[in-house]
Amino acid sequence: MSTDLLVNIDHVATLRNARRETIPDPAQAAMAVEAAGADGVVFHLREDRRHITDRDVRLLKEVVRTKMDFELSTNPDVVRICCETQPELATLVPERREEVTTENGLDVTARKEQLRDVVAQLRDAGIAEVALFVDPVDKEIDAARETGADCIELHTGDFANAKSRLARARCAADLARAAERAHALGLVVHAGHGLDYRNYGAFRAAVPHVREVSIGFAVVARAILVGMEQAVREMRTLVKG
Ligand code: PXP
Repeated sequence: MSTDLLVNIDHVATLRNARRETIPDPAQAAMAVEAAGADGVVFHLREDRRHITDRDVRLLKEVVRTKMDFELSTNPDVVRICCETQPELATLVPERREEVTTENGLDVTARKEQLRDVVAQLRDAGIAEVALFVDPVDKEIDAARETGADCIELHTGDFANAKSRLARARCAADLARAAERAHALGLVVHAGHGLDYRNYGAFRAAVPHVREVSIGFAVVARAILVGMEQAVREMRTLVKG
């Protein structure tokens, strides 16, 4: 299966906000991402608005011509904005104020009823695809299916952070098993978190059925050195093989 590359531009906003400036602009970054051949643009409107702002969302809606993936928590205010924005894909993620970045998948088993309601709300608003960000754990995949979500995004953070070859191989095996299970249940498989230019090859070799990957930090960090278009093209080459 060919995998689509969606680029997360949150950290363009992080850089801008570090100086309370107006540059760099995430919407301009999104245009460069698309010009370089990415299949879509991802952003996370956090409850604390620490990077992407409501204004960014409106501007992104104006400029994004490929696929828009709107990451969000179940916060009703943010769910409302997502419904109004009408992205092609909404990805539900857990959110904790003190975290530096999303740390775990959703606890779908414990929050199944709530997630089922929010998935229904997003679908009823006309959003074609809703994904749940989950750890590669069987019971979470099964619970995701029961919420009515169309897709799961497998959390690749443990794989990316693994300190030894053995640990990484174990994480890759967990991801592969989870992808097989989700695919067999009829869920579309996405993946992301911590994927980069070095670990992508091992991820790709191990994990089947991945329709989309969402990659942010590695691309934005490289873009500072080589430019956004070049950084996206390099990642695209890895993803498309
Ligand atoms: N997918 C989800 C659900 C995320 O929360 C993030 C981080 O914002 C990513 C993918 C991208 O992770 P990274 O920035 O490490 O590539």
